[in-house]
Amino acid sequence: MSDNSANINWFPGHMTKAKRKIAEQITLVDAVAEILDARIPVSSQNPDLPELIGNKPHIVLLNKCDMADPKVTRDWISYYKDRGVVAIAVDSKSGAGVGEFKPQVLTVLSDKLKKYEEKGMSGKKLRVMVVGIPNVGKSSFINHLAGKSKAKVENRPGVTRGNQWYAVDEKLELLDTPGVLWPKFDSKTVGEHLAMTGAVADRILDTEFLAMRLIEILKAGYMPLITSRYGVEELSDDCYEALCAVGKKRGMMIRGGEVDTLRAANMLLEEFRNCKLGRITLEGIDFCA
Ligand code: G4P
Repeated sequence: MSDNSANINWFPGHMTKAKRKIAEQITLVDAVAEILDARIPVSSQNPDLPELIGNKPHIVLLNKCDMADPKVTRDWISYYKDRGVVAIAVDSKSGAGVGEFKPQVLTVLSDKLKKYEEKGMSGKKLRVMVVGIPNVGKSSFINHLAGKSKAKVENRPGVTRGNQWYAVDEKLELLDTPGVLWPKFDSKTVGEHLAMTGAVADRILDTEFLAMRLIEILKAGYMPLITSRYGVEELSDDCYEALCAVGKKRGMMIRGGEVDTLRAANMLLEEFRNCKLGRITLEGIDFCA
């Protein structure tokens, strides 16, 4: 699935197809698990999803929480709770937090389970559709929950062939997103944040510009991380100067005593993506305002 991540060939037609498929398959599931990147919970959303989900119970998984600022992740969990939505922090790489998912599904679907029991259908399986943009961690999450064997469930009559169902246990099945649910690049900032985190290829944007935008965010909220990583106590308000300062500290010079800003930009973006600077969230709850 992550093959899609390097691809920025987003066409409205792709989205229409994915939306149609989701709308078709939504009737087969009891709930929807929306996987977001905890570092960019807004930009990793698909804004059309609420309409597609309708009244289906909905759980938000703030994935890659191992790379996100824990305090901001807690703020997001409260944010969703205040809006009646269960959100959990998950690290699908190590599996941390994944165990919280099933109990939350049972809680969210408790009314439905009660009804099943009353009708003598307590053995009925619960089905959850897992949705999320490419590279957000859907496969990793499903692998952790459904186990390495990813026990695939046979296609069912009336269900579009090729749908990926996975059995978690005898009570719970997961349906992988039918179709590729792209993020929406309808704001410049959304595109930048997706590129910074590596959700989409950064070649869509000028690398130095992207690094300068990242510096702006880091300066505002994570200056101590820059200081400890690069040994710069202060950074100029001019982000180009700031990028030069970081590059200089790393000895990234070219002839004439100038800083190789492209190298510095690539280094900064890579170090951010690999969490070398520390746990950083680009979008706090105020990003929604
Ligand atoms: P997708 O199905 O939604 O497209 O995403 P996928 O699970 O393929 O994950 C995309 C990349 O994100 C993978 O890295 C995966 O390991 C990483 N990833 C997923 N969840 C987490 C998480 O919670 N924390 C961290 N730190 N990483 C996560 P990759 O570099 O493409 O592959 P690899 O590192 O697994 O070899």
